[in-house]
Amino acid sequence: MNDKAIHRLYRHFQELPISMRALFTGALLVLGLGYLFAAIYVFAAHSGADAKPGLSVEDIKITYSGSAETTALEKALRGPMSGMLPQRDLAAMLDWMREGANKRAYTADIEAIVEVNCLACHDGSNPHLSNLDGYDNISAVVAQDTGTDLYTLVRVSHIHLFGLTFIFFILGFIFSHAFLRPLWLKSLIILLPFGGVSIDVIGWYVTKVWTPFAWVVLIAGMINALSFAVMWLVSMYQMWFYRVPDHVRLRHEIGPNGTL
Ligand code: HEC
Repeated sequence: MNDKAIHRLYRHFQELPISMRALFTGALLVLGLGYLFAAIYVFAAHSGADAKPGLSVEDIKITYSGSAETTALEKALRGPMSGMLPQRDLAAMLDWMREGANKRAYTADIEAIVEVNCLACHDGSNPHLSNLDGYDNISAVVAQDTGTDLYTLVRVSHIHLFGLTFIFFILGFIFSHAFLRPLWLKSLIILLPFGGVSIDVIGWYVTKVWTPFAWVVLIAGMINALSFAVMWLVSMYQMWFYRVPDHVRLRHEIGPNGTL
């Protein structure tokens, strides 16, 4: 233990004014809630892609690169659109696709379901949502699934990169007031998510053309979640419950040879 190792500009949480700790605590609580919802969304939107429960590498492959066995419509109905219609109608639509998505069955059963549940958004008025009005239009999304389209990936990429940089900057800034040694480990925990976010986003594009890269996307996501959890828990704990080591707390009173 060397008291000189403590940087003169470093302040532990407990050396900060209460108002600042209150600010940090509020930010941590809301960010934590946000991360929880983000995790629920990722799980709900993607875990159904391979029609098996749980989020897997297969789900990530299908999400970005598509699948020969499923269609864009089926993937949406098992994923983000699954809540848009009653279970009975959902089953009817899946059956219809399984049986070849022919026009006669469409006119008999499916048209009415789509009209009631989908056309409010998918009537063609929004250029970024597929038009599901009529058999010809819906046939296009029943064709083979080629994964998330480039336009959507680019849109989500810039939101992701800007948004997550803010989140991990705030979190890392708060966490920098924790006492954690060795110092390289503390710096690594702060740096890792920035690498994780970049690799995650670049990984979507790579997975589109080379599916084994889905593993990297999954691992990058786990690294981000782990860094988030460590920074959050350590900060919260050290802010309110931790006893700061004496050589940090009393550094201004400690003489050059370690005496008080
Ligand atoms: C409240 C508006 C809304 C309703 C109702 C709705 N969707 Fe969607 N749909 C969206 C949005 C927004 C997206 C883009 C979601 C995303 O990118 O995660 C989307 C995406 C999709 C996609 C994949 C992307 C695309 O545009 O092709 C399909 C397929 C789809 N919806 C089908 C349906 C079907 C079938 C129904 C009816 C059972 C339905 N949707 C009801 C808003 C809606």
